[in-house]
Amino acid sequence: MKNLLKVFLISLSILPATAQQPVYLDDSKPIEDRVEDALSRMTLREKINLIHAQSKFSSPGVPRLGIPELWTTDGPMGVRPEVLWDEWDQAGWTNDSCTAFPSLSALAATWNPEMGLLYGKSIGEEARFRNKSVLLGPGINIYRTPLNGRNFEYMGEDPYLVSQMVVPYVEGVQSNGVAACVKHFALNNNEVNRHTSNPIVDDRTLYEIYLPGFKAAATEGNAWSFMGGYNLFRGEHASYNPILMNDILKGEWDWDGAVISDWGAVHDTATAVTGGLDMEFGSWTNGLTEGASNAYDNYFLANPYLEGIQNGTYSEDELNDKVRRVLRLTFRTAMNRNKPWGSMVSDEHRAAAKQIGEEGIVLLKNDNDILPIEPEKTKKVAVIGENAIKKMTVGGGSSSLKAKYEITPLEGLKSRLGDEVEIVYARGYVGDPSGEYNGVSTGQDLTDLRSVEELTAEALQVAKEADMVIFIGGLNKSDHQDAEGTDRETLSLPYGQDELISALAKANPNLVVVNISGTGVAMPWVNDVPAILQGWYLGSETGNALASVLTGDANPSGKLPYTYYASLDQVGAHKLGEYPGTPGIDVLGNEVMDMPYNEGIFVGYRFIDKNKLNPTFHFGHGLSYTTFKYGDIASPKIFAKGDDKIEVSIPVTNTGDRKGKETVQLYVRDIKSSVERPFKELKRFKKIELNPGETKEVKFELDRNALSYFDAEKHSWVMEPGDFEILIGASSGDIRSKKSFKAE
Ligand code: BGC
Repeated sequence: MKNLLKVFLISLSILPATAQQPVYLDDSKPIEDRVEDALSRMTLREKINLIHAQSKFSSPGVPRLGIPELWTTDGPMGVRPEVLWDEWDQAGWTNDSCTAFPSLSALAATWNPEMGLLYGKSIGEEARFRNKSVLLGPGINIYRTPLNGRNFEYMGEDPYLVSQMVVPYVEGVQSNGVAACVKHFALNNNEVNRHTSNPIVDDRTLYEIYLPGFKAAATEGNAWSFMGGYNLFRGEHASYNPILMNDILKGEWDWDGAVISDWGAVHDTATAVTGGLDMEFGSWTNGLTEGASNAYDNYFLANPYLEGIQNGTYSEDELNDKVRRVLRLTFRTAMNRNKPWGSMVSDEHRAAAKQIGEEGIVLLKNDNDILPIEPEKTKKVAVIGENAIKKMTVGGGSSSLKAKYEITPLEGLKSRLGDEVEIVYARGYVGDPSGEYNGVSTGQDLTDLRSVEELTAEALQVAKEADMVIFIGGLNKSDHQDAEGTDRETLSLPYGQDELISALAKANPNLVVVNISGTGVAMPWVNDVPAILQGWYLGSETGNALASVLTGDANPSGKLPYTYYASLDQVGAHKLGEYPGTPGIDVLGNEVMDMPYNEGIFVGYRFIDKNKLNPTFHFGHGLSYTTFKYGDIASPKIFAKGDDKIEVSIPVTNTGDRKGKETVQLYVRDIKSSVERPFKELKRFKKIELNPGETKEVKFELDRNALSYFDAEKHSWVMEPGDFEILIGASSGDIRSKKSFKAE
């Protein structure tokens, strides 16, 4: 017995010694110490393995050291279903159905950073539950043209709005021990020629328009990873562009995260080694380029890199930097022992998807207050259009999902109104009856072989007999209609919808058009239709969120995150830029498509203001079922030399009879400047909620950054003392109060 006790005590005393773990495994130690320790233990081969994929979506880690695989997943609007090891096709799991969240264009339309946080936290929980370490999103490329096939995955045209929305999204995702991978850095603003587009952009435009969102994600959101774009910039591929990655992201912004290539975006070892890329994914796999399957050793950052180091072509310095970054990423995610467990399709996630959807829907027009639907007065509603019944979570490219459920608009309306109101449906047009992407199917067969005449006749008949008509159409994530890999070919709605809408407006004046899309469309019938909603792609809760806004259960409060153009002539990129480009040559002598951004900083409303154009709807526009009155701006007359900020305020009153939310937008104008500046620029906004009759004093702080422009020669932001004007309003085209001041 005595001996036993002795053995027990001895074992206790030696416990601490045996339990002592290497520094890199000890998460009580500073992360940099852990990184250096792990690095020092790795062989050259292990380092090379760490920085490139081993399957479609994973990298191998360092098995010998117990450093686990790093699993990534798309992103950005739900967690992608599991695919086979080296194929895009489905792995056939039965437990990988997700909550489909609204498109990021809808999130941006909430103009509510709290929604960004809720979104990020919720999708991060789903990624965590699926044991993913990197969520390939959010996408934040600037809406330069309404034709960009991926606008629905992005957050609109304004760098300040994007910055405000991306930071909480990133924080929310990462609170789960899952890295956000902010994409596609940078200037990936079109899908046509996406592998060869070579935007030619001056520094001022780059810094003022295309970088601020990414900078905010890196420096304020502390995003742990970034994804480079497929496109080029100044003749070098974005994913390993020395200016973007080394000088700006890792240099000026002092960012310590890891740069992941877009899938198949690497084309050369030498430039990838030095251009700031840390991890290579997607090249030479079956399905993207013409490679063989399971050929990961052939990656540009695999054997060719290893051999280059062994024969002295490359030093190990760049490799060590890449490895450090990947180790940091791994410690923050896969090896984070304190992360929560996550959850999938929880009640909270359903509620989040619905709430974000409701707040993102934009009421563009509501003449004579024909909305919300009042069941007492509206006994029969005709719902018309393919998008009322089409499931949209499948399709569109890498953001395609396998949703656990998806409530269509028609289902949502029926479940909300079905007991009180007779709802009849007519197809109206046939767009894309398919519903399959990479082996995921919606299970719907929407084939309808009737002629256009038959479909139109039925729709008009149904419309005539109803008290109200709700047309639900738009785009649908098929090629050229909001999809990765293709841009739209025109601003117009496809499938004869314009003609149908015009005919419906004649058949029944109580017409509501719900446009489902992630980008703006031409609306030649805008004056003939009393009510229009921008309905986005709202994911699992689509029908519930739409029904809730249409019936007034939720008072709409979304605002457009981009200008709704009447024609492409109103878009700087099309009026002045060379879209989709002219043939040129990159630094390695390959053919590319040069795309001069001749409109410079005049993107979106900046171009509209400069040319005094009348878009269909202005940037920031969105109505409510109540009304808001703005008072006068209160602000100091002088922004004194020693001060670093001024306070600005404005009273806003709810003058209607419903509780509602309003996004108060503050724009700044430099009245006199030595360089050409936009007429006004969004610099602050606040979303407030007001009860009927309630007034709130909305307060903002303006600092000198908000008054500055980027001086390319000095390579810094400059505030020129002089006269400025503050413009506050309900949209970029609806300024309610102005006040000037002098900045010293
Ligand atoms: C897309 C990325 C995506 C990746 C992985 C690429 O084609 O551009 O956004 O994350 O595929 O699916």
